[in-house]
Amino acid sequence: MTAHKKTQTQLIHAPRKAPQYIETVQPPLFRASTIIFKSTSHLFDRHWTDAYDYSYGTHGTPTTFTLADNIAQIEGGTYCLLAPSGLSAITLVNSAVLNSGDEVWVADNIYGPNLEHLNNLQARYGIQVKIYNPIDANSFQPTEKAKLIWLEAAGSVTLEFPDLKNLVKKAQQANMLTALDNTWGAGLAFNAFDFSNEHLSVDITVHALTKYPSGGGDILMGSVVTRDQQLHHKLYRMHAIQGISVSGDDTAQIQRSLAHMSLRYDQQSKSAVTLLDWLQQQPHFSQVLHPSHADSAGHSFWSEICTTGKSAGLVSVIFKPEYDLAAIQKFCDSLSLFKLGFSWGGPISLAMLYDLKQMRSLENTHLQQGLLVRFCIGLEHPEDLIQDIQNALKQIE
Ligand SMILES: Cc1ncc(COP(=O)(O)O)c(C=O)c1O
Repeated sequence: MTAHKKTQTQLIHAPRKAPQYIETVQPPLFRASTIIFKSTSHLFDRHWTDAYDYSYGTHGTPTTFTLADNIAQIEGGTYCLLAPSGLSAITLVNSAVLNSGDEVWVADNIYGPNLEHLNNLQARYGIQVKIYNPIDANSFQPTEKAKLIWLEAAGSVTLEFPDLKNLVKKAQQANMLTALDNTWGAGLAFNAFDFSNEHLSVDITVHALTKYPSGGGDILMGSVVTRDQQLHHKLYRMHAIQGISVSGDDTAQIQRSLAHMSLRYDQQSKSAVTLLDWLQQQPHFSQVLHPSHADSAGHSFWSEICTTGKSAGLVSVIFKPEYDLAAIQKFCDSLSLFKLGFSWGGPISLAMLYDLKQMRSLENTHLQQGLLVRFCIGLEHPEDLIQDIQNALKQIE
């Protein structure tokens, strides 16, 4: 008979153990730094490439692997790594694949902090950063040093849908890796690992799970999906070396929200199109940007690749030049349902003000001069959102 344990020990070693099998609607949540080994032989036999050989919290738990497998599946890939933010997923890719002397190509409309990270690598390690125009594949001229091209479909502020087909083909001919920021498409608008009628595929997708998968505007996370095992192991190694890991609680929350992600995405896509139709008729704007809009740059690429007809929940407007910064600030400050904030994919609609002059390296002849406001459509009724914009526009008339 085992001796009665002291209270201090009882407080730690609870008598109840998790049952072998119990089915619940949501998978069980594991929180771990330490993972307890069954035996020393199990400790010595484990191998780092085996995702299910649990060894330590940073390496993963059933909770993180469940979400990772789910994201890989949704995006049409095979392997997935989770990172604590979309940006950290991006920097993981840059750190894992780029070496000193390599050339990396980025779209002029790429998510800004990605370019900042690359510029930082350029300054410290002699990596060459080159910018291309996403709607003109001729502007992408890789040299023999070219290692990686970053794609974004659509670009998250000016919403040009890139010439994905020709850019990927050209990168493949140059033996480069292709990485797509897939946050806008979320694996729902098109399959990045099998797109166009020619079944083209990118090598890597990065997804800010902070947006649609989280859906709440309250959790940060990112993912890196691949199909190639060797490439996955390269990324996995860097993931481990850098100690990149995510919290079990955050992961379980995102897993829970995935159940209704496509319903939310579809609704936000539809509401964005309703707003687009109305915004186009307003006299205040010189341009309304949305890939489904026939006048938007890259529309034909969107039509060819996004055969689902989906287009996320982002619409941008460029105000006519007579509206100066003070007027646009007044417009933004007069919005009530739309809150002023970064990010998208949550329940609350957001607006953000941008000055394109400070954001682009190339001359973008397809964009009008003027200040830009991006609307991220939430889950409110689109008629209320239109009313909100209408009220704010009245303030600057
Ligand atoms: C297109 C795109 N990629 C990546 C990110 C980075 O995601 P996170 O905010 O999780 O770092 C963002 C965030 O706004 C984004 O818009």
